[in-house]
Amino acid sequence: MTDRMLVEIAQRYGTPCYVYDLESISQQIAKLKQALPEAEIYYALKANSSGGIIRHMAQHGLGAEVISLGELARALQANLNKLILTGPGHPDAFRKAALQAAYRKDIRVSLDSISQWQAWQSLAWPQKLGFLIRLNPALDPKTHEHLATGMASSKFGMSLAEAEAVACEIPSEHFLGFHVHAGSQIGELHIFSEVFERLAPLYERFKARYLDIGGGYHVPDFPLEAYAHLLRGFAERFKLRLMLEPGRYLVADSGFLLTSVLHLKEGERHHIICDAGMAELLRPALYGAKHPIRALTVGGILGSQGDLNLADVDGPLCENADRLGVDVMLPPVVEGDLLLVERTGAYGLAMSSNYGSSLRPPEVLIQGQSFRLARRRETLADLLSLEPV
Ligand code: LLP
Repeated sequence: MTDRMLVEIAQRYGTPCYVYDLESISQQIAKLKQALPEAEIYYALKANSSGGIIRHMAQHGLGAEVISLGELARALQANLNKLILTGPGHPDAFRKAALQAAYRKDIRVSLDSISQWQAWQSLAWPQKLGFLIRLNPALDPKTHEHLATGMASSKFGMSLAEAEAVACEIPSEHFLGFHVHAGSQIGELHIFSEVFERLAPLYERFKARYLDIGGGYHVPDFPLEAYAHLLRGFAERFKLRLMLEPGRYLVADSGFLLTSVLHLKEGERHHIICDAGMAELLRPALYGAKHPIRALTVGGILGSQGDLNLADVDGPLCENADRLGVDVMLPPVVEGDLLLVERTGAYGLAMSSNYGSSLRPPEVLIQGQSFRLARRRETLADLLSLEPV
């Protein structure tokens, strides 16, 4: 993927626009498969559920982790064979659709609470439906508070006592094992060691075949080899098969948000107002996330340079949180120049909204030297179509 190609994409489809490089996703999958060849990989669809991306995952033989009826429908449409349902809320329609699919697909359910277990019990299960029990490991995963799902105070998973109680009730032919997703953007390996300490009593007490260790790998610098070593040690100790649920690790670095400079404003700070902001990429506003931003064109010229200055890269909407970056080093761009917001393949379009009646941007897939539209830009007609007049 070259800058020239990105400029061509912006000219063809306009901005803002999301672009994904499929080869880079393939490389991430290959790295993970090489580090843990024995593990089953369930791609966390919430990171990026674009049809083109899911089909790419299916071609690589991956399964999917799904949390909603919509994600289930997308995974089934892309013909992914193995699915794990997770999340704290399973509405009737979601459970029923999953049960129907379980007659032809390998469907597993991670139970998040006793109440959820009771809801699943009220339905008739196909023979091969398998359950895991999500443990809340009650630890601090050292990440942003919104992503710290393993804290005792979080809504996720069961306490040790609850997990034991449910494990006693699940018929053994339907019981697969335990599940932990301690958080997202976890960079410190000792967190996983602590998770294993919490899990050990359960695997000592209950005969289980699987461990689902969730996702959560810190991007950009997760110590994958050391993690694989640690994980393998635990799995071998209890003779467990491994399930992984990576989201961000597989897609974050393959995605880019193209945006155009609309206006420049000099004040107490130097503001670059762009045509993308929190409606297209919520992460800077919600988590204070810092995405690398660079200029693709300067003064309309590709790849040109200039003295770097600090600027705030802001969106077009009417609140301060509507920004893509603060204190970004950029050359002296002018109106109409193109900026590239990097590492936006995960939780980018997936968390976009129509805030300010913004129209969601298109998605373009790059494969080798060619690119194609994977999802068109929303139109004003789309925006108005759900409301009867
Ligand atoms: N498995 C479960 C049960 C999860 O809840 C998640 C993410 C994953 C796997 C995948 O986690 P990953 O490998 O992508 O870290 N919107 C936030 C991230 C929220 C993640 C929620 N759960 C962000 O933009 O950083």
